[in-house]
Amino acid sequence: MLRPRPAALVSLMRAAGGGRWCRDPSAGARLPSLCSAPAPQPVIAAKEPFPVELQAGKTYSWCACGHSKRQPFCDGAHRREAPGLSPLRFSPARAGPALLCGCKRTRSPPYCDGSHRGNAVQAAPLSPRA
Ligand code: FES
Repeated sequence: MLRPRPAALVSLMRAAGGGRWCRDPSAGARLPSLCSAPAPQPVIAAKEPFPVELQAGKTYSWCACGHSKRQPFCDGAHRREAPGLSPLRFSPARAGPALLCGCKRTRSPPYCDGSHRGNAVQAAPLSPRA
């Protein structure tokens, strides 16, 4: 039986599936796959940022899925509600007040960049857990 060379297989599958990489547990390696499942999307926990007081050097886990009840921080809800999304761990260099994103649409996570002011956030429903 002819077997395609791995490089040829990668090119073929990228062309067919858009290049998304998925894990194939039976192969024990990362393989290109024809996965069609959409990437999980975060829900909007709040339509405004959360003001917090951060400590320098302390590690925080910012909720990236929007399902945590401890906003803006992770409570582990992503494991059940949004598999595929993970919290963002960060350690601020300076202590002090900060505005952490609550809409989960910021382009500079975990900090608010004003994206919550857009219609995509303001017109969207809040997470049922919010
Ligand atoms: S709360 Fe998300 S960008 Fe401001």
